[in-house]
Amino acid sequence: MNEIQILIVDYGSQYTLVIGRTLRELGVRSVILPPNKADGWLKYNTPKAVILSGSNWSVHNEGSPSLPKLLDVTGKKYLILGICYGMQLLSYKLGGVVERPLSHREYGPANVTVNTKHPLFNNIKEKTEVWASHGDTVTKLPKGFISIATSGGIAAMSDKANRILGIQFHPEVIDTKEGKKILQNFLKLSSCKKDWNPEDLIHQIQKEVLDVVKESKKQNLILGVSGGVDSTTLAAVLAPVLREKLICVAIDTGGLRLGEIEELKINTKSAGVKNLVIIKAEEKFIKNISVTIDGEKKRAKFRDVYKKIFEEQIAKHKAGFIVQGTLATDIIESGKIGKSAMIKTHHNVGLNWEVDDLHPFRNLFKYEVRELARALKLPPAVHQRNPFPGPGLFLRVVGTPVSKKNIELVREADKTVTDILKKHNLTKDISQLIVALLGINSVGVKGDERVYGHSLAIRAVQTVDFMTAKGYYFPPKVVEEITNALTKHKNIVRVFFDMTPKPPATTEFE
Ligand code: XMP
Repeated sequence: MNEIQILIVDYGSQYTLVIGRTLRELGVRSVILPPNKADGWLKYNTPKAVILSGSNWSVHNEGSPSLPKLLDVTGKKYLILGICYGMQLLSYKLGGVVERPLSHREYGPANVTVNTKHPLFNNIKEKTEVWASHGDTVTKLPKGFISIATSGGIAAMSDKANRILGIQFHPEVIDTKEGKKILQNFLKLSSCKKDWNPEDLIHQIQKEVLDVVKESKKQNLILGVSGGVDSTTLAAVLAPVLREKLICVAIDTGGLRLGEIEELKINTKSAGVKNLVIIKAEEKFIKNISVTIDGEKKRAKFRDVYKKIFEEQIAKHKAGFIVQGTLATDIIESGKIGKSAMIKTHHNVGLNWEVDDLHPFRNLFKYEVRELARALKLPPAVHQRNPFPGPGLFLRVVGTPVSKKNIELVREADKTVTDILKKHNLTKDISQLIVALLGINSVGVKGDERVYGHSLAIRAVQTVDFMTAKGYYFPPKVVEEITNALTKHKNIVRVFFDMTPKPPATTEFE
């Protein structure tokens, strides 16, 4: 599958995601990373272009974010486009002057006169309406740069080779009337090819996997399925070409939510899976995980048991491969970013296997997998499904050991809250719901008696990619309904709601 062609460095502008979405509408995929992560990515990847986003910062503020250290600003390796703060930062770092003149602050609609001879403004009207939001302005260009648009001051700049570009206004915002055309011109200048077409991607992935499998003596593949969007979509991509060679394995870990195995059976059927093996292993998982309350140690224990079960399945089915739905975000988050070849004997994200493991989705983001699922005509239950961690409810018993009883309590509470949210039609506003049992017991009153019982924490987040997330504020009447419903349980006396954003918190509690 094609490598990602555009890196967007995110300096915190509220419009950064809109840049990514607009590029995708123009047929080109991109990766969005904060400056420090962009460095890690640039170490192993050479994009065709880098876009530096806007920001609330001024380049003169102490602690303002800088260019990624590995960014090549010669224009030789790739094109660069600085937008707003991105342009100011480029100018400042390349020897220009950035000031805050009272006369040239713009907030909202502005009129710009562009140099229509410059390829960035090809087919753009000479006088065009844009959307701008800046206090700082580039007042003197770096050596070798020319102004290619004005709106009282310098509104856009370019080096002589048209490789390093800056725009003071926001082409990604819809109020910039010809903004999409400007971004299209930029894509053309950077020779980006269209790489966002779900049907083509599906064929590319199928071919890539088939090519690897054909070379192997052992042609069976094991795919772990959870019923979630990634593994179900991967199964749906591969099932038509691998047929019975694809063995889907689902583990009933004991940490699943109510009805999940039934949903999984329906989802894998709609994905066209021929071989589905369901392994029941609740006792093994709980026995191993209950020895610790440390989140990471629990994950390690989970992985040990999980790996053992898969190894047994590999041997039983004489498989030559494990296929996993690892996404670009998983690779980036794990810090092991690179031109990760699809095939790795000892892969660097999760487990090491005796057989080769394949990561056909390694360059995709969650929203892209959802689009593949739509293109494959999988039901909405798959493409609209919220993520759920592999270790499941084991991560949602926090600060107290996992036990069958605790897990059952969380499972019941999760179902109660989910049903309330469905009733109020709120699930569409939420990217993920977390209901966790906290290891904090406290005093309560039930009837006329004092009781000493458990606390539950409810957390819902809104996010596009789970790299960052906003805590969701439930409407007050829903808070009341959830609290009333949960405290009906004889052992629950308190319900906490957690709206902490990520960062500093994470989505899960551990
Ligand atoms: P955090 O908590 O890191 O989670 O913000 C981001 C997303 O990843 C999921 N998550 C996991 N998924 N194994 C998984 O398969 C894990 O150990 C794990 N931990 C977190 C989390 O549910 C959220 O969607």
